[in-house]
Amino acid sequence: MLVKVAAAGVHAVDTDIRQGGGPPTLPKPQLPMTPGREVAGTVEAVGPDVEGSWAGKRVVAHVGFLSGGYAEYALAPAASLHALPDRVGFPEAVAAIGTGRTAQLVLDAARLTPDDVVVVTGASGGLGNQLMQLALSLGARVVALYGGEAKRAAVTALRTDGLIPLDTSEQDWAERMKHELKDGSPSVVLDGVGGDVARTALESLARGGRHLIFGWASGAPVQVATEDIVERSITVGSVLGAPINALRDLETRSLEAVAQGRVRPLVDEYPLADAAKAHTAIETRASRGKVVLVTDMAR
Ligand SMILES: NC(=O)c1ccc[n+]([C@@H]2O[C@H](COP(=O)([O-])OP(=O)(O)OC[C@H]3O[C@@H](n4cnc5c(N)ncnc54)[C@H](OP(=O)(O)O)[C@@H]3O)[C@@H](O)[C@H]2O)c1
Repeated sequence: MLVKVAAAGVHAVDTDIRQGGGPPTLPKPQLPMTPGREVAGTVEAVGPDVEGSWAGKRVVAHVGFLSGGYAEYALAPAASLHALPDRVGFPEAVAAIGTGRTAQLVLDAARLTPDDVVVVTGASGGLGNQLMQLALSLGARVVALYGGEAKRAAVTALRTDGLIPLDTSEQDWAERMKHELKDGSPSVVLDGVGGDVARTALESLARGGRHLIFGWASGAPVQVATEDIVERSITVGSVLGAPINALRDLETRSLEAVAQGRVRPLVDEYPLADAAKAHTAIETRASRGKVVLVTDMAR
């Protein structure tokens, strides 16, 4: 399919690839290349062997290795497309198709219940913000960690019961968490930040708690010793590395969560022409929520 692009997702993986790095699981791109693996827009043209009436439809796709989203037109394999309900905007769809599908993967592994008290690191970021909302929608209490006053609004915008926002740039955030959780300790940490923040969160876990790793935006994964696991029966797990068999199902569930209002993705929009600024925002930790490039079509 040829998709007329309304919105394209930007990811830290894109900035890493642009700098010559990127995850070892991704093949090094052939230059010249167009970044962008998450695309939403309308179907402009359909290839010869494609079934169904897709022409003109509002769609979203994760195009993976094909890349090419930072453009006015992008190619997407027919099997990657999801039709979009009218009530889901293009930027929100982009946030759902990649970051949101990871959120569903993390949620499956976390097996949250309404009794859980969940610490979400990086709750101002694309993934953390969606996880915070999903955990709240399941009835759990959520300690949402963010770094600095400028990020606070990204976490508190929803004003939901059960949300405890805490600024990790304040030295005493762990004591404040204890004070807020008078009746107990966290039972789960959902961690994409690692480093000192994640270590403090792990130390705050109740006996039998779970620490689930899905990244280390701080540059270093959380440090765990055997004593942590043995003395307090903590389980430490990761959603990274294992084969993922049901990506399309994760994407479908993520789009449903947005369509049903269980997740309202926080998006940080930049015009397509300002892709460089969008990269800088990610690289300087200035972005809030999911960074998305938009064309005039999205407005
Ligand atoms: N998005 C996905 O689909 C996906 C998939 C697999 C793994 N992951 C991993 O999950 C983590 C979060 O991804 P994301 O897409 O939500 O990224 P993001 O939007 O850039 O958010 C990362 C968050 O981490 C926090 N952070 C704390 N210390 C940081 C530091 N030293 N440098 C940069 N950020 C720091 C930031 O919040 P504050 O500034 O408020 O502290 C930031 O909002 C990353 O480790 C990523 O590799 C993401």
